[in-house]
Amino acid sequence: MLVCQSVRLMEWLLLGVQHIALDTIDSTNARARELLRDGAGEGTVITASHQTAGRGRLDRRWIDKPNQSLLASYILEPMRSPEDWGGIPLLAGLAVLQALQSITPVNLHLKWPNDVLAGTRKIAGILVESGMLSGRPWIIAGIGVNLNQREFEGEYRLPPTSLLLESGRWCDPEELLTALSKTLSLRYTSWQTEGNGPIVEEWMRHSLMFGRSISLDDGDAARVVVAEGLTPEGALLVRSVDGREETIYAGDVSFTYEDPAENAGG
Ligand code: BTN
Repeated sequence: MLVCQSVRLMEWLLLGVQHIALDTIDSTNARARELLRDGAGEGTVITASHQTAGRGRLDRRWIDKPNQSLLASYILEPMRSPEDWGGIPLLAGLAVLQALQSITPVNLHLKWPNDVLAGTRKIAGILVESGMLSGRPWIIAGIGVNLNQREFEGEYRLPPTSLLLESGRWCDPEELLTALSKTLSLRYTSWQTEGNGPIVEEWMRHSLMFGRSISLDDGDAARVVVAEGLTPEGALLVRSVDGREETIYAGDVSFTYEDPAENAGG
């Protein structure tokens, strides 16, 4: 019995056991890629206290002040085939939401494909990058969480917030990392065996998007559609004003809610 329990513990404690903690670097995602080439394996997490060239989706920047955020990149070497990889940003978003809520009560929801919001403000973002190295597939799940900022300088496309502002609770990035490594490991382990189905369902329960009008920007002119759901691959299903259903892939898409008071688009 004891043996069984410790084996199960090992299964879900996989991610974050190897932790490379760095001070100031350009980007934990960039460093994770170098370390992958140097032989770092699945589950290694790279953190930094500050990034000078933090990267966001769609070539945006991720700006931080030293020691105020969790800046982490997990190396994954999935067994599932690339058509299921759309589940990774979704499971990472769920893991971040759950880890934050395990630290302090805070009302959070998810916005496709990979933002964690408190009301209309963004508290966390996820940048998933992937590729092949010597015939082996890899994914880097880069996660930035605003923890202890009281104010944000500079210009943000989305209004930012932090855990401190939302809950009054100061949080050591290391504490969130421990919680996140657990929630991420559990979800990643179940994704490896069960695929996207359970993740997609759970993700939709934590989002406020569905049934609402959104203004979708995929490079051409922005257009208004209604968000209807997610496909089993994790793509967004929308219906246009003329009733056509369309599948939107995360690549180059951003959107805002049609109601300006609700906007936290990304
Ligand atoms: C987004 O919201 O556009 C994604 C932001 C992802 C930021 C994190 S911070 C840790 C990791 N390293 C990076 O350079 N980016 C990700």
